[in-house]
Formats: sequence, structure tokens, C-alpha cells
Amino acid sequence: MSADRHITASGGGPGLDRGEATDVVELHAAVLRERPEPIEGREPLNLWLVVFIGVLVFWAGSYLTHFSGGFRADEFSETQINPVPPPVEGGGGAEDPVAKQAKAGAIVFTTYCQPCHQADGNGLPNQFPPLAGSEWVLAEGPNRIARIVLNGLAGPVKVKGADYNNQMNAFKDSLDDGQIADVLTYIRNSWGNKASAVTATEVAAIRKETAAKADAYAAAELEAVPVKGGGAAAGASASMTPAQIKEALLKLPAAEIKALVESLPK
Ligand code: HEC
Repeated sequence: MSADRHITASGGGPGLDRGEATDVVELHAAVLRERPEPIEGREPLNLWLVVFIGVLVFWAGSYLTHFSGGFRADEFSETQINPVPPPVEGGGGAEDPVAKQAKAGAIVFTTYCQPCHQADGNGLPNQFPPLAGSEWVLAEGPNRIARIVLNGLAGPVKVKGADYNNQMNAFKDSLDDGQIADVLTYIRNSWGNKASAVTATEVAAIRKETAAKADAYAAAELEAVPVKGGGAAAGASASMTPAQIKEALLKLPAAEIKALVESLPK
């Protein structure tokens, strides 16, 4: 009787009490809805969690690639972040003094020298000798070229293997020491030329030594002038002892001693 009740389809049937309509499926619906008891150990991960972990690992990897600092121990030390700036040549980022002088000299050159020696420093064949690559211009010191600009140059002269026999005028009266220093620095550092800068002090000393000379120099005359060092101090070098310097000074003609004393800073 009671067994009947459990297998009987809905709608009641024989053996059922009045109002007793029971459906097996309906009766077990609540039980069938439940999932099986979870078993620990083998469950696959939620797909979204797998994707999320994948993205996280990828992001972490690329983060380390960019910001690990090569895993250096000093990566975050103060000196690593703010390294001592390398010393800047020519005084803390200021314009290179030679470049500055050459810039000023370029203006002098355009006005006073370019008509003959040309903008490219190559001069004109048989008339005006080149300054580019000239052994006169590139001499170790400015002794000879400063004299050429101050007093001019006349007669035969050899420049870069070519002969010239012309005349260059004097600039003693039209250019001051600073302008001559600038233009000489410019021609010594242009068109591929590379030589030391010339200072106004050097030009002033040479102007004093040559004050008595009125006419233009001849090339042969200049070849007798030492390439480097100021006239009066020409014999003195850093390797001399004070006694040797004294001896050299005593041998100088009176006029040169006077020029030397006058050229000393006041
Ligand atoms: C009127 C034309 C003329 C002008 C301007 C002139 N020069 Fe010259 N320069 C010459 C001639 C010509 C010679 C060669 C002289 C000779 O033949 O004896 C010469 C020679 C020289 C030399 C030696 C030779 C060489 O080529 O290296 C130098 C350096 C020089 N000049 C620099 C200058 C500078 C710097 C200026 C401007 C301040 C200047 N000259 C302006 C005509 C000129």
C-alpha cells in the first residue's frame, strides 16, 4: 500500500487517500536540484580566475622588466638617482670662450679680411694667399701672424707651397688688440684649422714690441721672429730657474726691458 504510493504517477490512483496526489519527480525535485557533494583535490579552477592570474603574471613580468633597475643594490640610493653631474668644460655650461672669441672674430674677418682672403679662407690664386691650412696661420704661437696684421706683409712669401709676391696693408690703426686677437682666433679655428686661441694681452705685448716699426714686414724678417712666446720673454720658459731668467732678462736691450715692464699688469 505505502509502496504503491511512491511509484504512482500523479493524479492519484488506487490506494491513495482522498486528496493524496503525489508525483515522484515532484517529490524529489528538491533533492535533484542539489549538486553532488564536492570532492576536495581535483576540481578545475574557475576559467576567469585562470585568465586573471595569467594577466597578473604577465603584468608583473613586464613591470619587473621595466622597473627592476637590473636588481642592483644601489638602485634607489641617493647618488644613483642624483649622480654628481660631470664637470662641464669651460665653466658650468657657459659658452666655450674660444668659440665666443671666434664668433666675434668672424665679424672682424668679414669686414677687414674677407675681400682678399675670401669667405672660404682659400684666397685667390697668385694674388691672395690662403689662410685655410696655411702654415703661417697654424704656427704654434701668434707672434708672426699678429705682426702681419699689425704692420702688413709685402714681398715674396711662400704659403702652402705656392709663391706670392703682393702686398697686404697694416691694421695697426684700424683694429684694436681685442679685435686682432678675435680675428686671429677665428682664422686659427675655421675651415678645418685648429690652433690655440690668441689673447688681447698677447697682441698688446706684440704691438708694444713693434711700435717703432712703420713699414710692412717681409717674410724673411718674420722668419727670424720666434714662433712662440712674447718678444721680451721669448727666451724665458717655464723650465728655467729664476737665476737663468734673471740672466736672460739682463741680456735684453733696454727698449725690450722697457716694453716688458710696461706690459706688466698695473
Ligand atoms: C688687401 C688685401 C688683403 C686684406 C684686406 C688682408 N690681407 Fe692678408 N694678405 C694679403 C696678401 C696679398 C698677403 C701676402 C703678402 C705677400 O705677398 O707678401 C697676405 C698674407 C696674409 C697672411 C700670411 C700668409 C697666409 O696666407 O697665411 C695672413 C696670416 C693674413 N694675410 C691674414 C690676414 C688677416 C687676418 C686679415 C684681416 C685682418 C687680412 N689678412 C687682410 C692680402 C690681404
